[in-house]
Amino acid sequence: MTAQLNPRGDVAVLVPAAGAGVRLGPGRPKALRLLAGEPLLVHAVRRLAAAPSVHTIVVAAPATEVTAVRELLAAVAPVTVVPGGAERQASVAAALAAVPAGPEIILVHDAARALTPPELVESVAAAVRGGRDAVIPVLPVVDTIKEVGAGEVVLGTVDRSALRAVQTPQGFRRSVLTAAHAAAGDPLTDDAGLVEKQGVTVGCVPGSEYALKITRPFDLALAEHLLAAAE
Ligand code: CTP
Ligand code: MG
Repeated sequence: MTAQLNPRGDVAVLVPAAGAGVRLGPGRPKALRLLAGEPLLVHAVRRLAAAPSVHTIVVAAPATEVTAVRELLAAVAPVTVVPGGAERQASVAAALAAVPAGPEIILVHDAARALTPPELVESVAAAVRGGRDAVIPVLPVVDTIKEVGAGEVVLGTVDRSALRAVQTPQGFRRSVLTAAHAAAGDPLTDDAGLVEKQGVTVGCVPGSEYALKITRPFDLALAEHLLAAAE
């Protein structure tokens, strides 16, 4: 499949894909593990490329896999592939540095959220276009949440009504993300956390259950079932 990205799009998507996938168990780097016979990264990039606003995709690949990833994605969509870093934040920074002039909206999207629908990409981008500096997709927390201390003893029950589980793609006005990365200190697990530290207001849009992060073997099995059911 060849996807031509939209030259009139206003969105660049950074795809951190350089992680090892330790929690998935032994094997290839997670972005290259197979889901229904294709690497997770292929699933993720295909869905990003199907979002009409997307102008540019930059993938941060495991440093030893840059050539392999370039070859793999050549048949999926026109993408730029750069070597990632030791932490997710470094991988995002490397991808950000490779974005060409033009797109003023930057999305950051985990390769591990391989089944994220193009509609979610559009809804995050639309919220930034509509005036937000930073936007994250969120879902309500369904489980009761407790704080647990030493010896696995419950310290208390957290009021979950104000809690949200955060997904990607996270969207930013380009200048906001660039400034946040330039000022970044200790690595964080998401990019909205960096802009929060800059005092930027982060808005929320409804997330999607299909944007689950494939982290453990159960998630991979679940994703296989979701894909099979969608066919
Ligand atoms: N990631 C990255 N560079 C790193 C670490 C993570 O680009 N040095 C990417 C992963 O490839 C993934 C996303 O960040 O798409 C979210 O990270 P996570 O789900 O934690 O993936 P891994 O780090 O690969 O998994 P694990 O923590 O189990 O090793
Ligand atoms: Mg990780």
